[in-house]
Amino acid sequence: MSTLLSNRLAGKVAVVTGTGAGIGKGVGLMFARHGARVVGCDIDAAAAQATAEQARAEGLAFDSLHPCDLTTEAGAQALIDKAVALHGGIDILVNAAAMGIFAFIDDMTYADWRRTLTGELDIVFLACKAAWPHLLARGGGSIVNFASANARQALQGSGALAHCAGKGGVLAMTRQLAMEGGPHRIRANTISPGLIVTAATAPVVADPEFEAQVLRKKMIKRLGQPEDVAWLATFLASDESSWITGADHAIDGGATAW
Ligand SMILES: NC(=O)c1ccc[n+]([C@@H]2O[C@H](COP(=O)([O-])OP(=O)(O)OC[C@H]3O[C@@H](n4cnc5c(N)ncnc54)[C@H](O)[C@@H]3O)[C@@H](O)[C@H]2O)c1
Repeated sequence: MSTLLSNRLAGKVAVVTGTGAGIGKGVGLMFARHGARVVGCDIDAAAAQATAEQARAEGLAFDSLHPCDLTTEAGAQALIDKAVALHGGIDILVNAAAMGIFAFIDDMTYADWRRTLTGELDIVFLACKAAWPHLLARGGGSIVNFASANARQALQGSGALAHCAGKGGVLAMTRQLAMEGGPHRIRANTISPGLIVTAATAPVVADPEFEAQVLRKKMIKRLGQPEDVAWLATFLASDESSWITGADHAIDGGATAW
């Protein structure tokens, strides 16, 4: 039985990274439910396979490359090549896959700093670089990258040193991509989520003191869910947002608006 919700993304080919879990999974499934042909991927093969099977059981158009390590040029290229081979081109790229190490400066090693910048910043560059010629060939498209509230604000109690640098980089890089893409009708935007409940955040959310501190900052007193983010990504990926580029979109229950 198809769970198609609308045709908002009908005719679009969407590459979504990190579809094995969390936000990438939520975005990939929602795009397919709005009519996109989705090509997902993840380094975690079993998780990505489960998402693809869930989508197909819903009667949706969803393929996946897994395992795929997007921190390598070969991995990013293989993903884009798969999407082009399957569907003849790409209209949408959502970079949700990421891996960062959280530590305060006392404990942050240089190796962990580098791993975080590779896992949060290089990973976005490599997929954008591989997708760019295909977006040009299509006469335009939409890139959605994930920054973070941490790209602009330090969060008390969070060892986000390298994460702040990685996400600040994604934020700045996406503005540059928007400038370079403008003449070619390639749009590029960031989403900056506050704390969203995913596998990545489950350990910190499990600490009631930390959760209470996060909630204190929110105008809407609940944590975010991947679906909250997926609705915004659907808008940014669709032609409904055709004049929106180079913009950062906070989705954090108002936490950064005080
Ligand atoms: N969850 C939050 O609170 C939050 C807040 C701000 C920003 N973000 C950003 O949103 C995005 C999604 O976050 P999430 O919480 O869903 O993360 P998550 O850890 O739950 O999921 C990320 C997925 O990416 C995959 N991945 C990691 N490294 C990979 C690699 N090298 N190649 C391929 N796949 C890889 C993981 O296996 C995982 O399935 C990330 O960029 C994250 O930094 C999340």
